[in-house]
Amino acid sequence: MTQQLDRLDDWQRSHDCGTLTEDQLEDQVILMGWVATRRDHGGVIFVDLRDRYGITQVVFNPQHSEAAHEKADSLRSEYVIAVHGTVEQRPEGMRNSRLVTGAIEVNCDDVRILNTSEAIPFQLDDQVEVGEETRLRYRYLDLRRVSMQKNLATRHHAYQATRGFLDSRQFLEVETPFLIRSTPEGARDYLVPSRVHEGRFFALPQSPQTYKQLLMMAGLDRYFQIVKCFRDEDLRADRQPEFTQIDIEMSFVAEDDVMALAESLTRHICSEVSDLALPDPFPRMTYAEAMQRFGSDKPDTRFGLELHDAEEAALVSDYKIFKSVLDNGGQIKGINAKGCSGLPRSRVDALVAFAQEHGAKGLSWIKHTEKGLESSIVKFFPPASQQLLIKCLASEPGDLLLLSADTPDMVAKVLGALRLELARQLDLIKPNTWNPLWVTQFPLLERDEDAGRFVAKHHPFTSPMDDDLPLMDSDPGQVRARAYDLVLNGNEVAGGSIRIFQQQMQEKVFRLLAIDEEEAQAKFGFLLDALTFGAPPHGGIAFGFDRLVALLAGQANIREVIAFPKTNKAVGLMEDAPGGVDETQLRELGIRLR
Ligand code: AMO
Repeated sequence: MTQQLDRLDDWQRSHDCGTLTEDQLEDQVILMGWVATRRDHGGVIFVDLRDRYGITQVVFNPQHSEAAHEKADSLRSEYVIAVHGTVEQRPEGMRNSRLVTGAIEVNCDDVRILNTSEAIPFQLDDQVEVGEETRLRYRYLDLRRVSMQKNLATRHHAYQATRGFLDSRQFLEVETPFLIRSTPEGARDYLVPSRVHEGRFFALPQSPQTYKQLLMMAGLDRYFQIVKCFRDEDLRADRQPEFTQIDIEMSFVAEDDVMALAESLTRHICSEVSDLALPDPFPRMTYAEAMQRFGSDKPDTRFGLELHDAEEAALVSDYKIFKSVLDNGGQIKGINAKGCSGLPRSRVDALVAFAQEHGAKGLSWIKHTEKGLESSIVKFFPPASQQLLIKCLASEPGDLLLLSADTPDMVAKVLGALRLELARQLDLIKPNTWNPLWVTQFPLLERDEDAGRFVAKHHPFTSPMDDDLPLMDSDPGQVRARAYDLVLNGNEVAGGSIRIFQQQMQEKVFRLLAIDEEEAQAKFGFLLDALTFGAPPHGGIAFGFDRLVALLAGQANIREVIAFPKTNKAVGLMEDAPGGVDETQLRELGIRLR
C-alpha cells in the first residue's frame, strides 16, 4: 500500500531539531526532519525527530490530537515529517541531560508525512558497527549519522579557518586548471582523452605545482587554493585517488618564512577547530636524523623505542650473518623493547613474522634477564661483544632487544614499522598528545634502481641546498634539498620546498633526472620560458587537508572525513564508478578498447 503523502503548503519550519529548550515553553512550533525512532508506550507514541542540528522528542497523545496520533501510528524509521505542536516540559524523570533539547518535548497537534522510507539497510546508530562497503554503497544514509555529520562539520570549520587565516595575511585564492598537461609528482596520472584533438590527452593535476610557481612569476606574491588533486597510486588509509590540498606559494622567501607561515596556519586551524594548543615553535629534525633515530621520514615522536646502532657489537662478535651484512655495506640496528623480556614466545614470533611481512629476511631477538643475555644467537657473542650490545641498546635486565641486519633502507623500513607496531601493542601512546615535527633537508634525488636513474625525492622543481651545489656534479645522490615536511603524530600532513627559480639550475636538475632537453622542452617549455622572464625566488607548501581534518576529527582513515570517498580499490561503490562508456563516446574520442 502506498502511503498518502502530505504537502508542506503554508507550513514553515520555525526551529530546527537541536534548539528548543525550556526557554520556549508553551511556544507553538513547526519542526521538520527524519523519524529516528518511534516508540509506542501504551497509547502514547514518542518520536525522536532528527535533523542535522539534533534530536527533539515529539509526543503524539490521542487525548491531545486523535488525528495526529493515528497518523503517527504509520510512521516508520527515516520517514520525513513535519510536526506542529507546543513545547512542553518533560515530566520529572524523563529528562535527558545529554541532549540540548532533553528537558522539553513537543506535544504534537498536527503532523504531515512528507515522504516515506523503505526499511534502511543498516541502523544509523553510531554505536552499531556497519561494514564499510555497505556504508559506502549507501553513503547518503551513512552521512545521516551524527558522527559523520560531525566529521563534515569539522571539515567545514577547517576550510573556514584556513580561508580566514590566509586572507588576513594577504594570500589570494586563485583557481588553477584541472585539465592540464601531465606534471610529474611521483604517481601515475589520471588521463582525460581530448575529443577535439584526437589521440591527445589531458592529465588531471597531481597538484597545482607548476601553476602556483607561474603565479609567483606573474607577481601574485602570495597564493593559496583549497584544491582537489588526483593521483593514480596504491591506496591506503591515508591516501585517496582524489584528495584535497591547502596549496600555498610565496615569493621572496626562504625555508623559515614558509615554515613559520605553515606553523601559524596549523596552530590556527587546530585551535579554531579543536581547541587544540600546539607548541610554538614546532621542533625540527633533519631527514638524516629522522631516518637514523626512527627509521622513518615521518617519525611519530610520541613515544621512544628509537633505533640504536649495534654495529660496534656485531663487529666483535662471531655472528657470520651480521658480519656479512656489514661487509656488504649493510647495517645492524636494534630496538630496545623496555621491560618486554617476559613476552611469551608466540608474541616474539609474531614480531618476527611482522618484520618479515615488511620485507625483512629475519629479526634477531635477545632477552636481557637478571642472568644476562638469552637467545639462540647469544653463543656467537663473546662477553665483550655482549657488553657492547648492552651499551649500544642501553639495555637493562627485563628488556627485549630486537635486531635487524640488512641494507640501510630495509633496516629503516623494518624497524620503523616495528616501532609503530610495538607502540600499538604496548599501548605507549598517551591520548591527546599532539607532536608536530618538521623534517628538513631531504635528499634532492632518489635512485630508481629499476629504471637505473635518479628521480626527484619531492618533485623536480625543488631547489638544492646551496652548501651541496658542488656535489651536483660529483655525487648527486648526496645533494640535500631545501625541502621540508610537516609531520603530526607520525602522519605527513604537509610537504613543500624552496623552488628553483633560475633556468640553468632547472635545466641542470632535469638533466640529473635524465630528462633530456627535448623532453624538458616538450613537457616544461612553458616553465623554462617563464624562468627567463624575471622569476622571483619563491617557495611553498601543500597540506594534505583530508589528513589534517581526519586527525582533528580523531579518525584513523581519511575516508571518514570525505563525503563521497573511493574504496581502497579506487572505486565509487555508490555510483559504481568507474563505469563503462558507450561505443559512440569511444568513437568520438578515437579510442578502441583492447
Ligand atoms: P606532496 O606530494 O608532498 O607535495 O603532497 C602534499 C601533501 O598532500 C597529502 N597527500 C595525500 N593525501 C591524501 N591522499 C593522497 N593520495 C595524497 N598524496 C599526498 C600529504 C602530503 O604531505 N606540490 C607539492 C607541494 C609543494 O611542494 O608545495 C605536493 O603536492 O599530506
